Amino acid sequence: MTDLDSLAAEIAGADTVVALTGAGISAPSGVPTFRGEDGVWGHFDEGQFTYGRFQRDPAGFWRDRLELYEAMFGDGIEPNPGHEALADLSADGHLEAVLTQNTDGLHAEAAGRLPEGDRPELLELHGNAHRVRCEDCGRRKANDPIVARVRDGDVPPRCSCGGVFKPDVVLFGERLPGGALQRARALARESDVFLAIGSSLVVQPAAALPRQAAGTDATLAIVNLETTPYDTDASVLLRADVTDVLPRLRDAVADRA
Ligand code: APR
Repeated sequence: MTDLDSLAAEIAGADTVVALTGAGISAPSGVPTFRGEDGVWGHFDEGQFTYGRFQRDPAGFWRDRLELYEAMFGDGIEPNPGHEALADLSADGHLEAVLTQNTDGLHAEAAGRLPEGDRPELLELHGNAHRVRCEDCGRRKANDPIVARVRDGDVPPRCSCGGVFKPDVVLFGERLPGGALQRARALARESDVFLAIGSSLVVQPAAALPRQAAGTDATLAIVNLETTPYDTDASVLLRADVTDVLPRLRDAVADRA
């Protein structure tokens, strides 16, 4: 039996399967990863995207943010067969939740074609880059019109209440929303199979979720083109492209169910 077949058998027989995803699942959609060759942190200084910088210099932050946003999402992006395969696994009743570090909204888009009850629970742990939130009144708005204002030199963009808008993402130096992190940890602990997909697993606290799952005897599978610091905790390592391995995994699970 191949590793993929044995993982498919575990998923088919599991009560709770949870996936954690990182930038690698969106790379085939044309969204650059953060690290590694051609990663965005090779072209942009991550020190300029902290919450402290946003507070000190919101106008400069927003000018840099515009460039980062265009580099990441500028060409128009769509879900790829990796996102689709996870949505299908959920629709088939084999995937409870997707915890994602990505802010690109592609899991929601892939699941959007499913009836609501078939969608996985989705926790966007680092927020969603297609929204902004007012720092003062908490109002959320779509990002596109705000980005258009920034492009026209309206920096920092302000809400009608006078507060400054912030991208609705978790910046360096900001805490993850407490409720989402608690829920993610509970799901990791409850899982029988935990899939860590396309994340370098170097940014905490999300990176610790696979070990929390493995610590409660879940089968931990890591899908990644490269090694991660948690490979020794994993019982299955699939060193492959998400667009290749996830559709094959979905099909192998369906064959066994
Ligand atoms: N298939 C499988 N794995 C892939 C693929 C692919 N097609 N393409 C890239 N990968 C893997 C890389 O090998 C790498 O380990 O995806 C991983 C991407 O790692 P990072 O760029 O570090 O992205 P991520 O782990 O999601 O980053 C975490 O860092 O700066 C932050 O907030 C940002 O959410 C992000 C966090």
